[in-house]
Amino acid sequence: MEIVHISAECYPVAKVGGLADVVGALPMYQNAIGCQSFVVMPFYDILFTQKNTFKKVYHATLKFGKETIDFNVLTLKENSLDFDIFYIDIPGLLDKNYVYSENDTDRFLAFQIAALDWILQRENTPKVIHCHDHHTALIPFMLSQSYEYKSLRNIPTVLTIHNAQYQGWFSHEKVDLIPEFDFSNVGLLDWNQTINPLAAGIKCAWKVTTVSPSYMNELKLNANGLESLIKAESSKCVGILNGIDSEVWNPEKDTFIVQNFSTETIQEGKKANKDWLCDAFNLDPNRPLIVFIGRLVGEKGADLFPEAFDLALKNSDISLLVLGSGMSDVEKELELLKVPFKGVYNAFIGYDERLSHKMYAGADFLLMPSRVEPCGLNQMYSLRYGTVPVTSKVGGLKDTVIDINEGGFGICHNEITSEEIANAIQRAAVFYKNTQEFETNRRRIMNIDHSWDASAEEYLNLYKSLKE
Ligand code: ADP
Ligand code: GLC
Repeated sequence: MEIVHISAECYPVAKVGGLADVVGALPMYQNAIGCQSFVVMPFYDILFTQKNTFKKVYHATLKFGKETIDFNVLTLKENSLDFDIFYIDIPGLLDKNYVYSENDTDRFLAFQIAALDWILQRENTPKVIHCHDHHTALIPFMLSQSYEYKSLRNIPTVLTIHNAQYQGWFSHEKVDLIPEFDFSNVGLLDWNQTINPLAAGIKCAWKVTTVSPSYMNELKLNANGLESLIKAESSKCVGILNGIDSEVWNPEKDTFIVQNFSTETIQEGKKANKDWLCDAFNLDPNRPLIVFIGRLVGEKGADLFPEAFDLALKNSDISLLVLGSGMSDVEKELELLKVPFKGVYNAFIGYDERLSHKMYAGADFLLMPSRVEPCGLNQMYSLRYGTVPVTSKVGGLKDTVIDINEGGFGICHNEITSEEIANAIQRAAVFYKNTQEFETNRRRIMNIDHSWDASAEEYLNLYKSLKE
């Protein structure tokens, strides 16, 4: 069964967040159970593309409103990944040194058209076209409506919503850029008098998935304006929990960490990684080390961090380390906290894949007080490295973390306020002091299986249910 994943991100090529991790792992697990899955993504001018050499497999010109645009389809000369990736190269438009910017309408629209033009002329017709997030969510519309792609109309489409906050809105003035269709169906593109790619995808895809069952339910109440659409389309919507790539995220083999460890060697292994972090960031290694890794945005509760951390560092004997970037005022406030809490608090404002691995490995607790968390991968990575998650109870966090007071292994809080975050951190500090229980718990969480195996099967069953 040939499956085409079309996405703006894919690890290890281009990563901004969890979308990359998912698209960089799911195809590999699908191929292990008999699919032929591959990825189509933009060719950006970034480290990965600069360091590798590519060959051209296709060249054509696409129609973009009144203009025509040249594009190439490239692949790696030598691919060491467990699945193929085809890169859509549109010189001058897609090949920037970033993935996203303020105005990406033309970039991702041209990307989607090029991807479909290429698929149209291939010898093999894919069994399923699987789109991810709003950057590729116009594909189900184009396939079902644009005259150009009439011969592909019977290919089932799946749209996975990784994050419904972002919808890719653009003005109806640009409608002519979409390959010609029967204009009486323009309503399929519209939501609240604007073109809304995510809404169009939800309307036109054969199936819509979200990345956890709880998030699917939450979207009916909070979907950044799309609640009624989600309710109306609920019969074709399903929540499938993400997995993690347990090869990349494996404390026994991870080459980014200071010392590898298993459940048998967890004590020494975590200590070596914690000591390295405490040394590098001037933190007290005798205190429980709590870390946050992620985008500093409202969805992650980041606006509450300065106040919550101030409270937590005053009330509890902890060390705290932050890795992330995002809202500039939050970044500034997190920098300022370094002064009063020297020796127990530090922050690295930026993106650092290697450091993140060391933090999952060396921390005692991982903080995730998200307001919205469609799935969340960090909490699953932390479990694999014996790091106890301290999380809010939303979306995928609700589906993967159970509180220690409810027979579980993590620390959960209902409210998302600075006081509640500080309280949860205090509970973590108390739990840490109970050495015996703490040690047993972290050995136990390393064995929780969140690998992709089960979810890859669920996707396969979903694909099989789609009849032409
Ligand atoms: P989201 O996609 O909403 O950002 P996820 O939990 O699904 O959240 O995935 C985030 C991914 O990005 C994880 O792999 C996490 O380790 C990584 N990540 C986030 N911020 C950073 C950062 N500043 N440096 C390194 N890795 C980061
Ligand atoms: C999004 C969500 C995150 C999810 C990731 C991968 O970025 O914010 O919760 O884990 O996609 O599906």
